[in-house]
Amino acid sequence: MEERIVSGTQQENDYSDDTSLRPRRLNEYIGQERIKANLEITIAAARLRGEPLDHTLLHGPPGLGKTTLANIVANEMDAKIKVTSGPAIERPADMVSMLTRLETGEVLFIDEVHRLPRVVEEVLYGAMEDFVVSWVIDKGLKARSMNLSVKRFTLIGATTRYGMVSSPMRDRFGSVHRLDFYSEDAMRSIVERSARILAVTSDDEGVAEIARRSRRTPRVGNRLLRRVRDYAQVKADGTVTGDVARDALERLEVDALGLDDTDHLVLRSIIEKFAGGPVGIETLAAAISEEADTIMDVYEPFLLQMGFLDRTRRGRVATRRAYDHLGFPYPEEARRQASLF
Ligand code: ADE
Repeated sequence: MEERIVSGTQQENDYSDDTSLRPRRLNEYIGQERIKANLEITIAAARLRGEPLDHTLLHGPPGLGKTTLANIVANEMDAKIKVTSGPAIERPADMVSMLTRLETGEVLFIDEVHRLPRVVEEVLYGAMEDFVVSWVIDKGLKARSMNLSVKRFTLIGATTRYGMVSSPMRDRFGSVHRLDFYSEDAMRSIVERSARILAVTSDDEGVAEIARRSRRTPRVGNRLLRRVRDYAQVKADGTVTGDVARDALERLEVDALGLDDTDHLVLRSIIEKFAGGPVGIETLAAAISEEADTIMDVYEPFLLQMGFLDRTRRGRVATRRAYDHLGFPYPEEARRQASLF
């Protein structure tokens, strides 16, 4: 996969690096105030009762801290955590063996929980609800079902696609939290904290510039900080100032609002090839040789949030703001179409 500087998706090569920047406790975690407040209460209550936490579903765009929060919850509960992901568990037997080996109170974190195969998901239902898994042994006439008990554990599921989590699965989570893009203030605090941990010398303007161009996403902020640090060391005196950050990020084709070359490609293609839209997601994806899923998971949420893109029943539409930002004149026809939505 091509290395993209602003993509929210995890890339294995810098995944381990990022862990040094991850907060370990709820009180170190910046932003997502409502989720933190709710988690504080459910964690305190579960601890008071001496019970494991209820199963919890975290959803929202990539890079906003779902995995970090799952680890924090385990830490706050003094519990161990096992980490896996939906596509990694292919067979029901793998799920059974994972579940039956969990200890009391342990957290099982399943990333991309919407991608669990259906047959695997069905094993999970009984475990989540009654801490039992039904396991069919033998085949044909000799087939018998065996109930295996599972210790009381906490499932934390994470997904970028809430709509693709099946409804029986959704119903079995005791709490559901949606992570939103961070405020600019929160982003500044996160970049500042990371700069401190990485011992990067920076001024307020440098931090603010990186925060502004980070698509309100901590993972992107941390990645940009590292790239700007490189640039500051090689091309300047090592200090991340506003000018250094701007120069570095312009070279990386991250614009003043944090859009990168692929965001530009998405918007430009809607405007130029599809007369501003509406265009179906698959058609758009084919036009720019990108996966429709990647557009939907990584680019679209931020473009929607920034008001550059609208999603209509007939497809995606570039907004007036997109035309202005990319320097295209807003056509009469688009103006007329927009008034019809
Ligand atoms: N909130 C979300 N991600 C964070 C991070 N990496 N550091 C501090 N607070 C955060």
